[in-house]
Amino acid sequence: MNKPIAPSLLQPDEAFADYLKNTAYRIDENAEAARLKAGARVGISRPHESAHLHVAGEATYIDDLPELAGTLHCALGLSPVAHGTLRSAELDPIRALPGVVAVLTAADVPGTNDCGSIVHDDPILCDGEIRYLGQPVFAVIAETRDQARRAAAKAKDVLQIDALPPVLTPQDAHAKQQYVVPPMHLVRSTNDGGAQAAIAKAPHRLKGTFDVGGQEQFYLEGQISYAVPKENDGMHVFCSTQHPSEMQHLVAHALKLHAHHVQVECRRMGGGFGGKESQSGLFACVAAIAAKRLNRPVKLRLDRDDDFMVTGRRHCFWYDYEVGFDDEGRILGAEITMVSRAGHSADLSGPVMTRALCHFDNAYWLPDVAMHGFSGKTNTQSNTAFRGFGGPQGAIAIENILDGVARQLGRDPLAVRRANFYGTTERNVTPYLQTVTDNVIHELVDQLAAGSGYSARRAAVAAFNDTSPVLKRGIALVPLKFGISFNVKHFNQAGALVHVYNDGSILVNHGGTEMGQGLNTKVAQVVAHELGVSFEKVRVTATDTQKVANTSATAASTGADLNGKAAQDAARQIRERLAACIAGHHGGEPSAVVFANDQVQVNGRTLPFDAVVAQAYLDRVQLWSDGFYATPGLSWDREKMQGRPFYYFAYGAAVSEVLVDTLTGEWKLLRADVLHDVGRSLNPAVDVGQVEGAFIQGMGWLTTEELVWHPQTGKLTTHAPSTYKIPTANDCPPVFNVRLFEGRNAEDSIHRSKAVGEPPLLLPFSVFFAIRDAVSAVGGHRIDPPLRAPATSEAILAAITAVKAAA
Ligand code: MTE
Ligand code: MOS
Repeated sequence: MNKPIAPSLLQPDEAFADYLKNTAYRIDENAEAARLKAGARVGISRPHESAHLHVAGEATYIDDLPELAGTLHCALGLSPVAHGTLRSAELDPIRALPGVVAVLTAADVPGTNDCGSIVHDDPILCDGEIRYLGQPVFAVIAETRDQARRAAAKAKDVLQIDALPPVLTPQDAHAKQQYVVPPMHLVRSTNDGGAQAAIAKAPHRLKGTFDVGGQEQFYLEGQISYAVPKENDGMHVFCSTQHPSEMQHLVAHALKLHAHHVQVECRRMGGGFGGKESQSGLFACVAAIAAKRLNRPVKLRLDRDDDFMVTGRRHCFWYDYEVGFDDEGRILGAEITMVSRAGHSADLSGPVMTRALCHFDNAYWLPDVAMHGFSGKTNTQSNTAFRGFGGPQGAIAIENILDGVARQLGRDPLAVRRANFYGTTERNVTPYLQTVTDNVIHELVDQLAAGSGYSARRAAVAAFNDTSPVLKRGIALVPLKFGISFNVKHFNQAGALVHVYNDGSILVNHGGTEMGQGLNTKVAQVVAHELGVSFEKVRVTATDTQKVANTSATAASTGADLNGKAAQDAARQIRERLAACIAGHHGGEPSAVVFANDQVQVNGRTLPFDAVVAQAYLDRVQLWSDGFYATPGLSWDREKMQGRPFYYFAYGAAVSEVLVDTLTGEWKLLRADVLHDVGRSLNPAVDVGQVEGAFIQGMGWLTTEELVWHPQTGKLTTHAPSTYKIPTANDCPPVFNVRLFEGRNAEDSIHRSKAVGEPPLLLPFSVFFAIRDAVSAVGGHRIDPPLRAPATSEAILAAITAVKAAA
């Protein structure tokens, strides 16, 4: 690639120059050019397959599809009360409003009134119990979207609700012992007394509580479904979803049909981030129910505020912990209770808590540990997947603890972190009994610490703080280890279809979905590599339940791992058939036929790929194939919480340096250095983009993005960008060095790459702990700052005030 990757966010000129300088060592252009010349199509920085469409506004999202004649529009009537019983709903006046064609309620659902993905506790439309403020109670279908929205807005006037006090916080739910799934316990001990005995025996102890807020996905394309009725009970749903097969099942159940009646299609999403894994279900179901009832196409597109009010997001977590440690800061025993705000139904809260418990260890060996996970049932939106899927919430707890341990011992937090790292041949078994066999955290952190000048900069920060009473600097280096695979074994499978047309052009379809992460780009590269053709020959199409059946969600970062392998399997079968055919004509061993650079070498001859395909067609060779993949070696005992839930681990680390104004709580990220492990990258440009995006998105979660529910009414008061602050271009650090760690996956993953979607979301822990370091400087690093996440300026100021008061 001769152009540097564009920065994901714009920079002032000077900083941009810095950025360009730094890109030079991010991607080894010479190595990539040589690889390309030799015929490789993986390990090459290709632009996103739709980039030219994205930037020109030509990429079609659901709302861009041409509307069929007769299309109606749907809007949802939402509960204005957080908890209670629906006494009555006066819907006739709404039916009489201009343009309104129908108003539907739970009674109009032909099949099951449920869109719960795992536990079936999630009504599509209110069944009498009011569960949260914003819950859809009825659906208005009208000639125009505006008419539907105006009519639905009357909900507050027509619903008679007997209100009950809402339960809003995880602590309240925990006190009442109300949970959406049974409590979970993950315990490992090396002595008879367990974690508590290890803590009691330890030379030092630390005890405390910690709070981490939730996070809105804020996908740019909101939730949307467009349902088109088809002949003979068919239903075609165009849905912005990470999980077309799940949508197919939910719609089939709601309509009392079979899966083969329902087709779900998604060319791309304008972002998903976990928010469209299960939560697209309600909208797909309502659109389909209305379309079936009225026998007309129905579109349901949420307004941004309604999207906030109706759908769930990342779980906030509250922690209560106690650890015992030695003079080096080595954790000897740890006990932690984690309580999440699950919302009114289970959704994915169970798997999210499982992943949180399986990531409390992060990169550290914890000999004696007892973890308790409670998914609190609250009268709020039902929380769901969000990039990292509970992993970040688990790992930040141990990072907060180690930060406190270091302060108590007066040691550099990096030294304490290093002392706790998993070993490579011993001290390498996780609390859930998976052995860590691919540990690269020692070398990765050594490289990053050296490359970023961590030690010298830490000394410089201390020197600066000595002479600066108001502005304080802070620095932190935080590592990550993230497990790759779905904890549910059977989700780890994928299918693909590859068609080679007789003109030599190639079409790929697979079960994964494209949400901007570059999955289609990577899968197309894998197919081009396998068949030895140029990138332009391979086109990827919309995900469609009529093409590849029984797919898993594109989630848990497994998209490229699973679908890449399935597509490779399909392409390989075609290549082998082509090789046998052409060796039959020209002699030589089929296994000696080489496919590279749009040419086929067979027995000393070189033929164009297209000519070989044309010959194979004449010879009646099957030129298309399916492919399948199931991740090997996985096991998981849900009761004991033991096994090998992860095929491998991804690693990474980041150093962040911040400047905090101790009078206002305002702060600035001055510089971030990242070294992240993606194994052997399939596409370094896309991977660097994922790392940058995840870093900034995670930084938003931990700093500016704050969700506030009104403590009495339970109304989410931060339901639009006016009050909910995601990071902007100006929040990007002026120096942002992102590098990919040189390595390969120890497991036989697709071309030895590693998943990249979620793990780098943990990198901006370094920003949070750099802020905590700066706040700590106010008290001469003797007091643990009571800093919660998100560390908004308000929270920072409160922590500074507390530190000053205690100093
Ligand atoms: N990147 C973009 N641009 N948009 C997204 O919605 N979702 C993230 C991550 N990166 C997302 C993204 C999440 S939550 C996951 S699980 C992975 O992409 C899913 O895609 P993959 O498995 O193909 O990496
Ligand atoms: Mo990602 S949270 O697994 O969709």
